Amino acid sequence: MRGEEWTSDEEKVQRYLDRADEFPHRSEGEGVLLEHIPREARRVLDLGTGDGRLLALLQADRPGMSGVGLDFSELMLAGARERFAGDERVELVEHDLVQPLPALGRFDVVVSSFAIHHLEHERKRSLYAEVFDLLEPGGVFANFEHVASATHRLHLAFFAAIDEPIENEDPSDRLLDVETQLGWLRELGFDDVDCYWKWLEMALLIGVKPAGRR
Ligand SMILES: C[S@@+](CC[C@H](N)C(=O)[O-])C[C@H]1O[C@@H](n2cnc3c(N)ncnc32)[C@H](O)[C@@H]1O
Repeated sequence: MRGEEWTSDEEKVQRYLDRADEFPHRSEGEGVLLEHIPREARRVLDLGTGDGRLLALLQADRPGMSGVGLDFSELMLAGARERFAGDERVELVEHDLVQPLPALGRFDVVVSSFAIHHLEHERKRSLYAEVFDLLEPGGVFANFEHVASATHRLHLAFFAAIDEPIENEDPSDRLLDVETQLGWLRELGFDDVDCYWKWLEMALLIGVKPAGRR
Protein backbone atom coordinates (compact mmCIF):
# COMPACT_ATOMS: atom_id res chain seq x y z
CA MET A 1 0.00 0.00 0.00
CA ARG A 2 1.54 3.32 -1.00
CA GLY A 3 -1.00 5.89 0.01
CA GLU A 4 -3.72 4.83 -2.41
CA GLU A 5 -6.29 5.37 0.32
CA TRP A 6 -5.66 9.13 0.11
CA THR A 7 -6.81 8.99 -3.49
CA SER A 8 -9.66 6.50 -3.14
CA ASP A 9 -10.89 6.21 0.45
CA GLU A 10 -13.42 9.00 0.87
CA GLU A 11 -14.12 8.04 4.48
CA LYS A 12 -10.45 8.25 5.46
CA VAL A 13 -10.00 11.61 3.76
CA GLN A 14 -13.13 13.02 5.40
CA ARG A 15 -12.06 11.69 8.80
CA TYR A 16 -8.68 13.44 8.48
CA LEU A 17 -10.31 16.71 7.42
CA ASP A 18 -12.87 16.52 10.24
CA ARG A 19 -10.10 16.01 12.79
CA ALA A 20 -7.54 18.38 11.28
CA ASP A 21 -8.08 21.07 13.93
CA GLU A 22 -8.07 18.61 16.81
CA PHE A 23 -4.47 17.35 16.72
CA PRO A 24 -2.96 18.51 20.00
CA HIS A 25 -0.40 21.30 19.60
CA ARG A 26 -0.86 21.50 15.85
CA SER A 27 -1.63 25.21 15.85
CA GLU A 28 1.52 25.86 17.92
CA GLY A 29 3.69 24.21 15.26
CA GLU A 30 1.84 25.96 12.45
CA GLY A 31 2.26 29.25 14.31
CA VAL A 32 6.04 28.80 14.42
CA LEU A 33 6.04 27.94 10.71
CA LEU A 34 4.10 31.12 9.90
CA GLU A 35 6.61 33.18 11.92
CA HIS A 36 9.43 31.96 9.69
CA ILE A 37 7.83 32.65 6.33
CA PRO A 38 8.56 36.20 5.15
CA ARG A 39 5.47 38.41 4.85
CA GLU A 40 6.75 39.64 1.49
CA ALA A 41 6.95 36.12 -0.02
CA ARG A 42 5.45 36.28 -3.53
CA ARG A 43 5.36 32.64 -4.73
CA VAL A 44 4.74 29.72 -2.37
CA LEU A 45 4.60 26.01 -3.23
CA ASP A 46 2.78 23.59 -0.91
CA LEU A 47 3.71 19.91 -1.34
CA GLY A 48 0.80 17.56 -0.49
CA THR A 49 -1.51 20.51 0.04
CA GLY A 50 -4.59 18.43 0.88
CA ASP A 51 -7.53 20.83 1.11
CA GLY A 52 -5.12 23.80 1.09
CA ARG A 53 -5.02 24.37 4.86
CA LEU A 54 -1.43 25.66 4.96
CA LEU A 55 -1.77 27.90 1.89
CA ALA A 56 -4.84 29.49 3.45
CA LEU A 57 -3.01 30.11 6.75
CA LEU A 58 -0.13 31.72 4.84
CA GLN A 59 -2.42 33.84 2.67
CA ALA A 60 -4.10 35.39 5.69
CA ASP A 61 -1.08 37.63 6.40
CA ARG A 62 0.35 37.77 2.89
CA PRO A 63 -2.15 39.43 0.55
CA GLY A 64 0.44 39.70 -2.24
CA MET A 65 1.25 36.02 -2.20
CA SER A 66 0.36 33.53 -4.91
CA GLY A 67 0.32 29.83 -4.08
CA VAL A 68 0.63 26.54 -5.90
CA GLY A 69 -0.74 23.46 -4.14
CA LEU A 70 0.30 19.98 -5.31
CA ASP A 71 -1.46 16.78 -4.32
CA PHE A 72 -2.20 13.42 -5.92
CA SER A 73 -5.62 13.03 -4.33
CA GLU A 74 -8.62 14.25 -6.32
CA LEU A 75 -10.65 13.90 -3.13
CA MET A 76 -8.34 16.30 -1.29
CA LEU A 77 -8.01 18.67 -4.23
CA ALA A 78 -11.80 18.92 -4.41
CA GLY A 79 -11.70 20.40 -0.90
CA ALA A 80 -8.94 22.81 -1.93
CA ARG A 81 -10.90 23.87 -5.02
CA GLU A 82 -13.88 24.63 -2.84
CA ARG A 83 -11.74 26.57 -0.36
CA PHE A 84 -10.09 28.70 -3.05
CA ALA A 85 -13.07 29.02 -5.41
CA GLY A 86 -12.73 32.29 -7.33
CA ASP A 87 -9.28 33.02 -5.85
CA GLU A 88 -6.94 33.47 -8.78
CA ARG A 89 -3.91 33.67 -6.52
CA VAL A 90 -4.01 29.89 -5.94
CA GLU A 91 -3.27 27.22 -8.52
CA LEU A 92 -3.94 23.55 -7.71
CA VAL A 93 -2.04 20.82 -9.52
CA GLU A 94 -2.67 17.08 -9.40
CA HIS A 95 0.74 15.47 -9.05
CA ASP A 96 2.19 12.34 -7.45
CA LEU A 97 5.23 13.38 -5.41
CA VAL A 98 6.81 10.02 -6.16
CA GLN A 99 7.54 11.57 -9.56
CA PRO A 100 9.93 14.50 -10.05
CA LEU A 101 8.27 17.87 -9.49
CA PRO A 102 6.69 19.36 -12.60
CA ALA A 103 8.14 22.55 -14.12
CA LEU A 104 6.42 25.28 -12.13
CA GLY A 105 9.07 27.99 -12.09
CA ARG A 106 10.93 29.21 -9.01
CA PHE A 107 9.49 29.90 -5.55
CA ASP A 108 10.34 32.16 -2.60
CA VAL A 109 8.99 29.55 -0.21
CA VAL A 110 8.25 25.83 -0.28
CA VAL A 111 6.11 24.42 2.53
CA SER A 112 4.62 21.05 3.33
CA SER A 113 2.48 19.71 6.14
CA PHE A 114 2.16 16.04 7.08
CA ALA A 115 2.71 14.81 3.52
CA ILE A 116 6.36 13.99 2.74
CA HIS A 117 6.42 11.21 5.35
CA HIS A 118 4.32 9.16 2.92
CA LEU A 119 7.27 8.94 0.52
CA GLU A 120 10.02 6.33 0.66
CA HIS A 121 13.16 7.69 2.32
CA GLU A 122 15.17 7.81 -0.91
CA ARG A 123 12.43 9.90 -2.53
CA LYS A 124 12.24 12.21 0.50
CA ARG A 125 15.91 13.04 -0.02
CA SER A 126 15.66 13.53 -3.79
CA LEU A 127 12.57 15.70 -3.28
CA TYR A 128 14.52 17.89 -0.83
CA ALA A 129 17.17 18.31 -3.55
CA GLU A 130 14.50 19.36 -6.07
CA VAL A 131 13.12 21.83 -3.53
CA PHE A 132 16.59 23.35 -3.11
CA ASP A 133 16.88 23.80 -6.88
CA LEU A 134 13.52 25.51 -7.34
CA LEU A 135 13.90 27.93 -4.44
CA GLU A 136 15.04 31.47 -5.17
CA PRO A 137 18.29 32.46 -3.43
CA GLY A 138 17.38 33.21 0.20
CA GLY A 139 14.21 31.12 -0.14
CA VAL A 140 12.79 29.14 2.76
CA PHE A 141 11.80 25.47 2.94
CA ALA A 142 9.54 24.60 5.88
CA ASN A 143 8.38 21.03 6.38
CA PHE A 144 5.85 20.55 9.20
CA GLU A 145 6.03 16.82 9.44
CA HIS A 146 5.07 13.56 11.07
CA VAL A 147 8.45 12.12 12.10
CA ALA A 148 9.65 8.88 13.67
CA SER A 149 9.81 8.47 17.43
CA ALA A 150 13.09 7.49 19.04
CA THR A 151 11.53 4.32 20.49
CA HIS A 152 8.47 2.12 19.97
CA ARG A 153 7.24 3.13 23.42
CA LEU A 154 7.26 6.80 22.37
CA HIS A 155 5.51 5.85 19.13
CA LEU A 156 2.70 4.26 21.16
CA ALA A 157 2.67 7.30 23.46
CA PHE A 158 2.15 9.59 20.44
CA PHE A 159 -0.86 7.61 19.25
CA ALA A 160 -2.27 7.64 22.78
CA ALA A 161 -1.72 11.40 22.98
CA ILE A 162 -3.60 12.06 19.75
CA ASP A 163 -6.32 9.67 20.89
CA GLU A 164 -5.88 7.39 17.88
CA PRO A 165 -5.79 3.58 18.24
CA ILE A 166 -2.41 2.30 17.02
CA GLU A 167 -4.36 -0.09 14.77
CA ASN A 168 -5.42 2.98 12.77
CA GLU A 169 -1.83 3.80 11.91
CA ASP A 170 -1.64 4.80 8.24
CA PRO A 171 -0.03 1.89 6.31
CA SER A 172 1.42 4.45 3.91
CA ASP A 173 3.45 6.18 6.65
CA ARG A 174 7.23 6.00 6.12
CA LEU A 175 8.31 7.80 9.27
CA LEU A 176 11.88 9.02 9.50
CA ASP A 177 13.75 10.60 12.38
CA VAL A 178 14.47 14.31 12.55
CA GLU A 179 18.28 13.99 12.70
CA THR A 180 18.58 12.15 9.38
CA GLN A 181 16.39 14.69 7.63
CA LEU A 182 18.28 17.66 9.09
CA GLY A 183 21.54 16.04 7.98
CA TRP A 184 20.25 15.69 4.42
CA LEU A 185 19.12 19.31 4.29
CA ARG A 186 22.58 20.46 5.42
CA GLU A 187 24.33 18.19 2.89
CA LEU A 188 22.15 19.60 0.12
CA GLY A 189 23.35 23.12 0.92
CA PHE A 190 20.53 24.56 3.02
CA ASP A 191 21.57 27.04 5.69
CA ASP A 192 20.09 27.65 9.17
CA VAL A 193 18.84 24.06 9.18
CA ASP A 194 17.20 23.02 12.41
CA CYS A 195 14.16 21.53 14.03
CA TYR A 196 12.35 24.77 14.97
CA TRP A 197 9.52 23.11 16.90
CA LYS A 198 8.66 19.58 18.00
CA TRP A 199 6.02 17.74 20.00
CA LEU A 200 6.36 13.94 20.03
CA GLU A 201 6.01 12.89 16.36
CA MET A 202 5.16 16.34 15.02
CA ALA A 203 8.15 18.43 14.00
CA LEU A 204 8.93 21.56 12.03
CA LEU A 205 12.10 21.29 9.93
CA ILE A 206 13.34 24.45 8.25
CA GLY A 207 16.24 25.26 5.94
CA VAL A 208 17.12 28.41 4.01
CA LYS A 209 18.75 28.47 0.59
CA PRO A 210 21.84 30.66 0.89
CA ALA A 211 21.39 34.08 -0.73
CA GLY A 212 24.47 33.50 -2.90
CA ARG A 213 23.20 30.22 -4.46
CA ARG A 214 21.29 30.25 -7.76
C1 LIG B 1 -2.27 14.15 6.27
S1 LIG B 1 -2.71 14.87 4.76
C2 LIG B 1 -2.12 16.55 4.97
C3 LIG B 1 -2.82 17.53 4.06
C4 LIG B 1 -2.44 19.00 4.28
N1 LIG B 1 -1.06 19.26 3.93
C5 LIG B 1 -2.71 19.41 5.69
O1 LIG B 1 -1.78 19.80 6.41
O2 LIG B 1 -3.89 19.36 6.11
C6 LIG B 1 -1.51 14.16 3.67
C7 LIG B 1 -1.64 14.67 2.24
O3 LIG B 1 -0.53 14.19 1.47
C8 LIG B 1 -1.03 13.80 0.21
N2 LIG B 1 -0.11 12.83 -0.36
C9 LIG B 1 0.31 11.64 0.19
N3 LIG B 1 1.13 11.00 -0.66
C10 LIG B 1 1.26 11.80 -1.75
C11 LIG B 1 1.97 11.69 -2.99
N4 LIG B 1 2.70 10.61 -3.27
N5 LIG B 1 1.87 12.69 -3.88
C12 LIG B 1 1.10 13.77 -3.63
N6 LIG B 1 0.40 13.95 -2.49
C13 LIG B 1 0.48 12.96 -1.56
C14 LIG B 1 -2.40 13.21 0.51
O4 LIG B 1 -3.21 13.14 -0.62
C15 LIG B 1 -2.90 14.20 1.55
O5 LIG B 1 -3.55 15.30 0.96
